[in-house]
Amino acid sequence: MCGIVGYVGMKQAQDVVIEGLRRLEYRGYDSAGIALVHEGDLATDKRAGKLANLEKAIAETPLPSSTTGIGHTRWATHGAPTDANAHPHLGNESRLALVHNGIIENFAELRRELEAAGHELRSETDTEVAAHLLESELATGVGLTVAMQRVCGRLEGAFTLVAVDSHDPDRVVAARRNSPLVVGLGDGENFLGSDVAAFIEHTREALELGQDQVVTITRDGVEVTGFDGRPAAGNRYYVDWDLSAAEKDGHDWFMRKEIFEQPAAVAAALLGRHTEDGRLQLDEVRIDDAELRDVDRIIVVGCGTAAYAGQVAKYAIEHWTRIPVEVELAHEFRYRDPILTRNTLVVAISQSGETADTLMAIRHARAQRSKVLAICNTNGATIPRESDAVIYTHAGPEIGVASTKGFVTQMVACYLLGLYLAQVRGTMYGDEISRIVGDLEQVPGQVGRVLERADRVYQLAEELVGAKAVLFLGRHAGYPVAMEGALKLKELAYIHAEGFAAGELKHGPIALIEEGLPVFCVVPPRGRDQLHGKMISAIQEIRARGARTIVLAEEGDPAAADYADTFIALPRVPTLLQPLVAVIPLQLFACQLATLMGHDVDQPRNLAKSVTVE
Ligand code: M6R
Repeated sequence: MCGIVGYVGMKQAQDVVIEGLRRLEYRGYDSAGIALVHEGDLATDKRAGKLANLEKAIAETPLPSSTTGIGHTRWATHGAPTDANAHPHLGNESRLALVHNGIIENFAELRRELEAAGHELRSETDTEVAAHLLESELATGVGLTVAMQRVCGRLEGAFTLVAVDSHDPDRVVAARRNSPLVVGLGDGENFLGSDVAAFIEHTREALELGQDQVVTITRDGVEVTGFDGRPAAGNRYYVDWDLSAAEKDGHDWFMRKEIFEQPAAVAAALLGRHTEDGRLQLDEVRIDDAELRDVDRIIVVGCGTAAYAGQVAKYAIEHWTRIPVEVELAHEFRYRDPILTRNTLVVAISQSGETADTLMAIRHARAQRSKVLAICNTNGATIPRESDAVIYTHAGPEIGVASTKGFVTQMVACYLLGLYLAQVRGTMYGDEISRIVGDLEQVPGQVGRVLERADRVYQLAEELVGAKAVLFLGRHAGYPVAMEGALKLKELAYIHAEGFAAGELKHGPIALIEEGLPVFCVVPPRGRDQLHGKMISAIQEIRARGARTIVLAEEGDPAAADYADTFIALPRVPTLLQPLVAVIPLQLFACQLATLMGHDVDQPRNLAKSVTVE
């Protein structure tokens, strides 16, 4: 949700912090703020709105020179997005500054306690109580590290906290529980960030922290302890992408760049996952074959786009393995007391690996002794760390708030998992598996061909500026694609959009059809069951009632073309893999329509990239 940066070193902290916030702004953009330690004092500025407002304020009233600082970009939870509620928050004596990501659940009772003791709180946030508690601990004579350990012991909920003490200028102290925080290891300087993008410009050496840990960074050192003060160790790793991955590379939006990266992302997701003769080799699946053979049910959990990837997975995995697969929104999962056994495999899909709802779902599953396999794009994130096994999607950093390459590579990982299970359980012959692996290897080129025709989709977006509502229809694996297309449009263009299973139309939604209503129709490839024909019938039915049909179907499909007001050709791919190519025009359409409407595509209103609060 929020983005956090901390720095201590030899450079101007203001530059490092502001640059870090720029790279983390996708995590939240309700307000931004900075605190620097300068000659035994704190210099702070914080502004409601995007980072640009803070930058403008600092340009007008410069902050003093400093080599130690912290910064924050906010996605509001407690309190409106105002200057007063922006972070950093100060303690009662303004000795300490603190930034926070997460929710402190017992903040109301802590606030009452502080107010009774004479503290004057200036904001509506939960964060400010932690700032006051920390400063009270400092007043007892302990240093910031010990103060942080003590305060964390009193807090309930999920939090990353990063603080500076004006009396101790060369130190930044942070803590985490159920909320992301990474350390960047430099030479004569060290960094803190909600993710590595915060410091990728300066170092690719990183330290991942465990739960309930406190970290102290100075110029020359990094010290990790538990909340109980006992020494602990982080896990050091090298970040396998560089600054160019965090730049727009000539595109207007990160989202558009990420859409066009999808051929490479799919290729990366497949790389090294099979032998030349198409035998799956998923070394990361650390669950042994005997246990995989015993799996009698799979539950896929995720949120938003990740849940739609799970719905595609259901079609493929059930078909290939004959294991029943359920797909459940992660935030609903644990509250219905699901039936879980040792033989249930829970597959958690999360691009960020930090989504709180999904994290809580896997914790619930593991507590019931089910095995959890994560499908994740972020190395070392909390969800893969807390899972029994992980398949990384290797899409590279996804910065646009709307997921694109994250979605496509999640589907690839699900296909690989399904084929791997089929291989281990012997539900498919080797040559069948290898044929599908061959089909998957064609996908990067096929996605590339869809992207070459982006102009046709852009032209359609121009024609549809002003549309009040848009529907999306699909069947079988095309149904989750329809829902994903609708989600993209809602979150970027703020247009009412719905995805329906085409067969459901006549049971109610067809009443929505009126003259000129744009309806995207994802047509399954010809030749499989009767799906194609049934979808064509649905298109005829809505066209007869005045809908403007935008038909996505394989090239040279005359039946589909006949009923299309606009025809968008897709390469010929097997039905189960079609989502990989069918979703691309829908991503392009949402991105372009939102652009034409003047919206900020990378930072849509009210949203944040990773949702680290429940
Ligand atoms: O990081 P995750 O994959 O766990 O995120 C899940 C959803 O929050 C995410 O897919 C969201 O729906 C996107 N904004 C969709 O574009």
